[in-house]
Amino acid sequence: MSRHASEERRWWQDAVIYQVYPRSFADGDGDGVGDLAGLLARLPYIASLGVDGIWITPFQPSPQVDQGYDVSDYCGVDPLFGTMQQFDDLLAAAHALGLRILLDVVPNHCSSEHPLFRAAVAAGPGSPERKMFHFEDWPDRDTPPNNWQSVFGGRAWSRVDPSSETDTQWYLHLFSPEQPDWNWRNPAVGDYFEGVLRFWFDKGVDGLRVDVAHSLVKAEGLPDAASTTTVTDGLRSNAQVSDQEEVHEVYRRWRRVAASYSPERVLVGEVNLEPARAARYTRHDELHQAFAYAFVKLGWDAVGTELEAGRREHGASPTWALENHDVVRSATRFGGGERGALRARAGLLAILGLPGGAYIYQGQELTLPEVDVPLEARVDPMWTRGGVSRDGARVPLPWTVAPDNAFGFSPSGAAAPWLPAPAEWGSRSVEAHQHDGGSTLHLVIAALQLRKQLFEKEVLLSDDGGTWRVEDGGLLVCERNDQFLVAVAMGDAPVRLPAGDVVLSSSPLSAEGLLPPDAAAWVLRG
Ligand code: BGC
Repeated sequence: MSRHASEERRWWQDAVIYQVYPRSFADGDGDGVGDLAGLLARLPYIASLGVDGIWITPFQPSPQVDQGYDVSDYCGVDPLFGTMQQFDDLLAAAHALGLRILLDVVPNHCSSEHPLFRAAVAAGPGSPERKMFHFEDWPDRDTPPNNWQSVFGGRAWSRVDPSSETDTQWYLHLFSPEQPDWNWRNPAVGDYFEGVLRFWFDKGVDGLRVDVAHSLVKAEGLPDAASTTTVTDGLRSNAQVSDQEEVHEVYRRWRRVAASYSPERVLVGEVNLEPARAARYTRHDELHQAFAYAFVKLGWDAVGTELEAGRREHGASPTWALENHDVVRSATRFGGGERGALRARAGLLAILGLPGGAYIYQGQELTLPEVDVPLEARVDPMWTRGGVSRDGARVPLPWTVAPDNAFGFSPSGAAAPWLPAPAEWGSRSVEAHQHDGGSTLHLVIAALQLRKQLFEKEVLLSDDGGTWRVEDGGLLVCERNDQFLVAVAMGDAPVRLPAGDVVLSSSPLSAEGLLPPDAAAWVLRG
């Protein structure tokens, strides 16, 4: 079998995926919230970037307490986002454009409005219905069953009905009280989710991103956590809800389900663990990929030092991402202003050249900064429960320079957008980038075209290993193979690049051919 044929089967290993947060991408029906109709209309834009596919965050029916991550029907479409017919049309249109579609599956918890949770509440203590979730008795009705903290702040337990004399049970929710956790030690939960996977795979969906993939199974007996201090990173500070050995059985089963389809469907985990532990989720019979998660939180200075460790420890197929809908935009995280924007461009060009797959979060191709959303407009439950706000990375995308219709996000006559955009949004819009030959949008398009050509010429291969070094002057070099390297200038002065042809750089080289600080370059070696 030629290298090409084997790469075809494993497209996901090098895939560049564009993350769509649908409520902020494009509003088709004018209610101020993005939807499937808006996404369908803008699909050609995504295809024009040259990405291989799209990951769409949840659009299933949901009370929207956590902006869709509180799912009340895993196999439907929330009317806020459209209809199942529109989803089917979107899937067909994406496939016709050569774009794969990955959806989000949220298996750790559902919405408290999910029929199975409602049935559990109604059925009462001791019922099989309650065993689908973590309902616990506790003799002291004012004290929760253990000391676990919610990621969104406060305790991870709520009383079913604080006023009831007969039903004194508590239920577990690692996130908000409206997001009860499934009990994955009950086999019926596994059976239920196999049905969910098959529903979307039967439709032709190409893969799933698995939300909070490391936390499904809780420690037997639900013992106290060693520490209750961290709120915003609650899962990692509580070993009892994270990385339990039995969770791997879930993914072995899911892999068998994915592999029973042709072409095989793909599973990408949000595994928020140290790289060495996350790598265990991508063993040959488990998930296909896991995000190199640390990077979405790192500042610029740490990126260089961590890249190598990430590559080494993430194993087979790292999945690079510098941004998503949960973290501060990289242009702001990397220092803000002009310098932060340069670094964000450099970081993006670097991950598009590294061995493995990469994710681009919508707006990253526009180098959008984090928005300081006015306090009264913030809606993120993490914020309303006392943590940080993630709203600033979720402001609707600016499409036009003119401010009309929320910078082209909505059709004319639409309601105000669900999060307000800052006044300067137009200068950062898709339209502004399209008219500026030196914009990040053009850089991304050029990088993805070149990436494809280099794969076609077999200069880049799926199984490139990559060796890493830091040269004098803080030049981080990933030598992907003997023909191609990625270099990032992490120091404060311009640096000389290793010999070869610079085929792309995130900032122009100096007259002497040096790479300026906060820039990245792709170099072809003779
Ligand atoms: C999602 C968040 C969500 C949380 C709970 C995360 O990993 O990306 O947006 O709030 O899971 O579902």
